[in-house]
Amino acid sequence: MPVPLSINMKKYLIIISLLAMTLSMQAKSKKKSDTPAPGALKEVLVKNGILLGAAINQWEVAGEVPGAVPAIVANFNSAEAENCMKAEVIHPKEGVYDWKLADEFIDFCQRNNITAIGHCLVWHSQPAKWMFKDKNGEPASRPLLIERMKEHIFTVMQRYKGKVKGWDVVNEAILDDGTLRVSPWSELIGPDWIELAFRFAHEADPDAELYINDFSMAKPAKREAYLRLIRDFQQKGIRIDAIGMQSHNGVDYPDVVEYEKTLEAYAATGLKVMMTELDLNMLPNPKDWDGSAEVNKKAAYEEAMNPYKKGLTLEAQKIFNDRYLAFFGIYARHKESISRINFWGASDLNSWLNNWPIKGRTSYPLILDRQYKLKPVVNDIIKLFE
Ligand code: XIL
Repeated sequence: MPVPLSINMKKYLIIISLLAMTLSMQAKSKKKSDTPAPGALKEVLVKNGILLGAAINQWEVAGEVPGAVPAIVANFNSAEAENCMKAEVIHPKEGVYDWKLADEFIDFCQRNNITAIGHCLVWHSQPAKWMFKDKNGEPASRPLLIERMKEHIFTVMQRYKGKVKGWDVVNEAILDDGTLRVSPWSELIGPDWIELAFRFAHEADPDAELYINDFSMAKPAKREAYLRLIRDFQQKGIRIDAIGMQSHNGVDYPDVVEYEKTLEAYAATGLKVMMTELDLNMLPNPKDWDGSAEVNKKAAYEEAMNPYKKGLTLEAQKIFNDRYLAFFGIYARHKESISRINFWGASDLNSWLNNWPIKGRTSYPLILDRQYKLKPVVNDIIKLFE
């Protein structure tokens, strides 16, 4: 026969089970708060008028990367094509356009309600090299190159009219010391090549937003040069909607104070500011690195330069979190001036920083890990905007 429990014993058991329930609920909610909810960052940013995007590659678009499509669709409401809209891919020969990958990218964005951004119309890197030579193999004349640039801008922009919200019209035109980059564009056309590109872009699609984009914007001389360019455009009435701070950041660059100053100075021009290629390189850089994202600068692989093959150390993880929070702290303070934050890559798996400036490393620069899972720091980023 069961022994009847005393009233006190019953009370005691009820209290114990209530306590156990509370503890287990607390543990669950702690666990829940460690794993950021997919899409939560995008939601909080869109409430602040900021699009959250990523550069995505052709294999992600084609659904060939396990886990990529659902993670991209859940976490981002904007995207850029990592390579396939660059001139060397889309316009490989005179009179020949290769739309395949760009069309697939645009279809992917349309199907998934993702705002597509065009990257990029005119750049010294990955250009359509044939444009720089005439039919005799001599350097193209100014009128010839202007005509080719115009035709390229018109053809590409008009194909995607209404499907691309805005374009990086000109990429990386100014050097860190504030001088104009010497490139076939500046050499063969002259300093007005930038302004011509924007005039053509506006003519080609008057509804598209037009952006100028560059890295190392926290460097004072470069900041000043872009401010001069913006003021010059504004005086001449040339359309420009936003300035892109690429933001290929590292552990010890850029200086966050200078970076914030740049954001403030650009915002003060009345243009929107965009973080267009955000990532955080946790890996050591080659000697005397200047914090640039000059794609043509490369260095040879050495074991010592690839220290986190199995994952970041706890110490490195903390630096990663602190740096991300420092940058997003700046974005939160200036949220009215920012219209888009775009990561350069959807996840660590496909980041260009696994192969640049040193090939074959294991890099951890983004907020989605190699399995396309959000990293815990995202929870703290969200809090900055709530
Ligand atoms: C990079 C791509 O991520 C790489 O896959 C490619 O090999 C080189 O270009 N600044 C830019 C981007 O504006 O277009 C570059 O993308 C990274 C630096």
